[in-house]
Amino acid sequence: MNAMEAKNRIHTLSEEIRRHNYNYYILSRPVISDYQFDMLMEELTGLELQYPDLTEPDSPTRHVGGGVTKEFRQVEHKYPMLSLGNTYSENEIRDFEERIHKILQEPAEYVCELKFDGVAIGITYRNGSLVSAVTRGDGTRGDDVTTNIRTIKSIPLRLRGDDYPDEFEIRGEIILPHSSFKKINLQRQEDGEEPFANPRNAASGSIKMQDSAAVAKRGLDCFFYYIPGDTMPFNSHYESLMKAKSWGLKISEYTIRCSTIEDISDYLKTTEKARHQMPFDIDGVVIKVNSLRQQKILGVTAKSPRWAIAYKFKAEQAATRLLSIDFQVGRTGAVTPVANLQPVLLAGTIVKRASLHNADVMNALDVRIGDVVFVEKGGEIIPKITGVDTQQRPPEAIPSGFIETCPECGTTLVRTEGEAAWYCPNETSCPPQIKGKLEHFISRKAMNIESLGEGKIELLYDKGLVSNVADLYDLTFDRLIGLEKTYPATEEKKERTVSFREKTVNNILQGISLSKQVSFDSVLFALGIRFVGETVAKKLASHFLSLDNLRNADFQNLTEVDEIGETIAHSVLRFFSDPALKNLLDRLKTAGLQFEMAPTRHLRKSDKLLGKTFVVSGVFENFSREELKKTIEEHGGKNVGSISNKTSYLIAGNNMGPEKRKKAEKANIPIISEADFLEMLEQEF
Ligand code: IVH
Repeated sequence: MNAMEAKNRIHTLSEEIRRHNYNYYILSRPVISDYQFDMLMEELTGLELQYPDLTEPDSPTRHVGGGVTKEFRQVEHKYPMLSLGNTYSENEIRDFEERIHKILQEPAEYVCELKFDGVAIGITYRNGSLVSAVTRGDGTRGDDVTTNIRTIKSIPLRLRGDDYPDEFEIRGEIILPHSSFKKINLQRQEDGEEPFANPRNAASGSIKMQDSAAVAKRGLDCFFYYIPGDTMPFNSHYESLMKAKSWGLKISEYTIRCSTIEDISDYLKTTEKARHQMPFDIDGVVIKVNSLRQQKILGVTAKSPRWAIAYKFKAEQAATRLLSIDFQVGRTGAVTPVANLQPVLLAGTIVKRASLHNADVMNALDVRIGDVVFVEKGGEIIPKITGVDTQQRPPEAIPSGFIETCPECGTTLVRTEGEAAWYCPNETSCPPQIKGKLEHFISRKAMNIESLGEGKIELLYDKGLVSNVADLYDLTFDRLIGLEKTYPATEEKKERTVSFREKTVNNILQGISLSKQVSFDSVLFALGIRFVGETVAKKLASHFLSLDNLRNADFQNLTEVDEIGETIAHSVLRFFSDPALKNLLDRLKTAGLQFEMAPTRHLRKSDKLLGKTFVVSGVFENFSREELKKTIEEHGGKNVGSISNKTSYLIAGNNMGPEKRKKAEKANIPIISEADFLEMLEQEF
């Protein structure tokens, strides 16, 4: 085959495969067998390998993924991603309809749709090709997850037909069908990983995975429900959806037009009944005004459009008997009461356990062993107890108090003023707390040691090899190889054997070794300081730049940092004042972890401030404090939180603390203004 023939064949194959994808994923009416389809794919993949230059950019082979995203780029939405006003009551739907009628003073038609319980996405097509996919984020900016979204087979990389706008965005919901959800959780249990609580969490976790080839295997799906923008070539919402359908985009079959409130009411009732038969989760119904002209008249509020409303299904309830209460200790030491129930059918699954939250909730419910209790399923996998049927209370029902000592290690529990939870204070040797700390340490946003899942951590702990995070860095091949343990089946998990063979061991050691390159802010997050989440860790890291600076910071230095309040400051001080910790941190430092911020080279605009250290204090005219600090770093300078004799300059803004000024004067540190600083930057060096 010559290049010309190859090009033609690649084109024909691509078109043919696209058509079969459409038949299979959108119409659910395949016309060829899986085997025949695989043969076409194989031929195309082969040709593309042989002629990489001839591969079409939207080739259907691109659905399998391969790209890896380290960090998702933040992108601003062209149209903000609004949310929907919602209600649980049909009466409020009537109010909604009346309100609309009153504003419009003319009849309105409605479109009723399913409210998909997944993750919102905005996908842009340019000249018929998928060019970007962005998550909702905060509604204004979201994450660019294009590489991952391209792996979802029901989302076309190229549109059908030719009457689509040159460029448009379409919004939809990424969902995980029940069948895929079950498969993923089964696999996770086998791998000793925590199963996802519900399909929504699994979908959201999946589209944020770094490895798009792994996303491709998750079995995600997508329904589209909205095209924003007011220069679109349609008159109604329904028309826009039907057009989208003709371009090969997946629109739910349950989308209907209604003219009366009675029709809407019928739709609510039928869908609520049908929801448990659906192959994916829905959490309600969305009702939208159909005419785009009317939508425009109705307009939007700050948060949501006035022309749409979500009717959410009520959580389902079941009544059953409370048999006993267990107390579970979590990673932070918080103790959660968990009810063991007489098994009962709830929303399609059998429920045997339910959360009782904390001591206050238990008291408020006055729940007793033997009582008939009401169980509800929220979005989580663990249902909760929401009430007690005191009418049915047997005379012998036993009042159930909260425990006083830790069920895992026997330590007396403590409770901080104003907090609901009781805690086991034995942070350093209470088993679930240690395991929890280790799991947090290795997690993706922390040290990202992917090769060590929850099951492996448990084995390392049970075999006495690791009892704190520093121990991970002392592991060797010889200590790990051949370790094995079978864990019996529990309520939540099947029986499983965890064993370390050569490949596993090498992966673990490599993962641990790679974690030494993880940046300082993630290391700080990994340490698991209470109230220091990912964002706070980033703030602290970029402000203090090194662990030593942070360790030496006092209450004032800490609370001076943007968005760091007293609670966080106290927690950080308490953390570093623990003597046991000093040794742990020293060991981590010796192991080679990043205890300093790496200089941000790629952002470097000049070296004008190289070697200079700044303390920035007060309020400025041309910059926010963050921007000023960023500018310092961009020109090679360093920011520190407090004045020492190593400080080169104090940049003084308005309302600067008098203490700082005094300190600087005493140490003979030059105090400069914002204007002095700008001048410094303009000078030629
Ligand atoms: S329309 C401006 N339609 O629900 C209108 N949203 O609470 C934009 N959702 O963020 C949304 N199914 O993630 C719309 N059929 C549907 C939906 C739907 C699920 C989600 C969506 C949105 C949230 C609003």
